[in-house]
Amino acid sequence: MKVSIGADHGAFELKEALKKHLEEKGIDYKDFGCFSKESVDYPKFAYAAAKAVADGECDFGIICCTTGLGVSMAANKVAGVRAAVCTNEMLAEMTRRHNNANVICMGQKVVSQELAEKMVDIFLSTEFEGGRHQRRVDLLTDIENGKNIAENL
Ligand code: RB5
Repeated sequence: MKVSIGADHGAFELKEALKKHLEEKGIDYKDFGCFSKESVDYPKFAYAAAKAVADGECDFGIICCTTGLGVSMAANKVAGVRAAVCTNEMLAEMTRRHNNANVICMGQKVVSQELAEKMVDIFLSTEFEGGRHQRRVDLLTDIENGKNIAENL
C-alpha cells in the first residue's frame, strides 16, 4: 500500500506527525508538501496529493489543512477522487465501508494528533462493503462524467 500525503501551512505539523505514524506502521507514502509553515495556497497541495490517487500512483490519500474543508473541496474536484472530511473514528470507518472514500481529509485545528492517527489507522484498514453501496458510488462517477443522474426522479 502506498499513501499520498499533503497539507497546507495550517496543518504542516499534523502532516509531519502523520508521516512519522505511517513510518512506524511500515506504510509507504509520498509527501506532496507543503514543506514548511510558510503560508501557501491549499488547493495546489490538495490537488497534487489527490491526483496521485486518481492516477493510481497511490492507493489512498491523507490531506490536511486548518479545518480539512478547503482541501476536501479541492480533492473532490479531481475525477476519481472521493475525499471525506473526518472528525471522528466512526466517520473514518463509515466513509470507507459505504462511500469507498480514497482520500481522508482532516483539520489540524479540529482533531488532536492522537485522534488523527486513529482515524488514519481505521481508514487504511477498513474495506469497502460493495453491494448496494457500489451502485451509489457508481452514481458519483456518473456525475463526474457529466451524466444527469436525476433525470428519471
Ligand atoms: C489557511 O488559512 C486555511 O484557510 C486553510 O488551512 C484551510 O482551513 C482551508 O479550508
